[in-house]
Amino acid sequence: MRILAIETSCDETAVALLECNEGGAYTVHGEQMHSQVDIHRDYGGVYPSVAKREHQKSLPLLTHRLLSDLHCLEDDASVTLNEDTQQICEREPEMLQSIERLFSGKRGITIDAIAVTQGPGLAPALWTGVNFARTLSLLWDIPVIPINHMIGHIAAALIDEKKIITPAYPALALLVSGGHTELVLASQQNTFEKIGSTVDDAAGEAFDKVARLLGLPYPGGPEISKLAQTARDRNLPQPTSFPRPMLRDGTLNFSYAGLKTAVRLYIEKKKAETEPTIEKDEVAAIAREFEEAVVETLITKTRDAIEQHAPASFILGGGVSANAHLRKEITDLLERYPDIQLYLPRAELSTDNAVMIGLAACSLTHNQTSAETLRADSALSFN
Ligand code: KG4
Ligand code: ZN
Repeated sequence: MRILAIETSCDETAVALLECNEGGAYTVHGEQMHSQVDIHRDYGGVYPSVAKREHQKSLPLLTHRLLSDLHCLEDDASVTLNEDTQQICEREPEMLQSIERLFSGKRGITIDAIAVTQGPGLAPALWTGVNFARTLSLLWDIPVIPINHMIGHIAAALIDEKKIITPAYPALALLVSGGHTELVLASQQNTFEKIGSTVDDAAGEAFDKVARLLGLPYPGGPEISKLAQTARDRNLPQPTSFPRPMLRDGTLNFSYAGLKTAVRLYIEKKKAETEPTIEKDEVAAIAREFEEAVVETLITKTRDAIEQHAPASFILGGGVSANAHLRKEITDLLERYPDIQLYLPRAELSTDNAVMIGLAACSLTHNQTSAETLRADSALSFN
């Protein structure tokens, strides 16, 4: 089965063409991605209406390039936009124009389904991808497979070079991204239960906000991670000790708003002492202490969840899974549980991408929806 996969939940516009075959074999035929980070950097974070505008601009172009390069577009005069297709993109007029220009008179061939991120994410961004998928689905008479973005992050970890891996169940997943921080238990394939989550900010969001406080560019995670490593390599003195919120409260929940405030107060105090800027080494040392506070809470709650639920496999996913310190600490933790198989996503599949949406769809091929009824769901959740 050949799947055109689309991801537009946040600030990456991404499309990929995948093939999944018997026994879990898969091939990524190609992918195209446009990151909006340079645009959002000026705002210090993702600006939803700008994200929508950029997705509208990029999505038809990237899809056209992907499918042309792979010889999946064929001239067919019967492919025309009608009232139904025009109605779908009522709120994305710019995208509709591009679709008309690039895809009318063209048929997508050898594509069996379109997988699209349905949620969770930024509503205007999600709707752009969903409406684009609905339009192509009607134009080419191909079904749509709606995908939960977080299941995509799980799927990104469950592959080797050639095959999709079925983990042993129950499988426990720690999903850490810009919008989510959650522990999810899968009792069997495609059956998920959320057993813990953040009560306020997500871990990635905390990385981004603290980076901003430190004067570092968006997205903050990679910047903080780099500086924290410098502080470790150079053995810079620990500036202070930040709180590890909810560490021993007996739940599997997380909280990062208080930690962020503690960092803000510390920075304000330092600035008052040494106005106007904080020394570079001090910034690196703060980054390290902050990163260690976040990672310690993630590791402690993961260990608690392992002890309580005795999983047979463990999966790390979401953009923050690109963090080298978190990967190391998770690997060290799992070494203490040799019976639990650990799955980490490759670095390039950690942050948002369309390949993971296609991989998730390979295991959900029965979950097809009609273009007429499909809706984006910004609050889509496991339970
Ligand atoms: O999954 P993702 O790409 O997008 C969402 O679904 O939100 O995650 C993005 C988040 C951002 O907050 C970013 O700062 C964080 O992942 N991130 C990192 C690293 N790389 C990305 N956080 C810590 N360390 C990293 N190396
Ligand atoms: Zn994500």
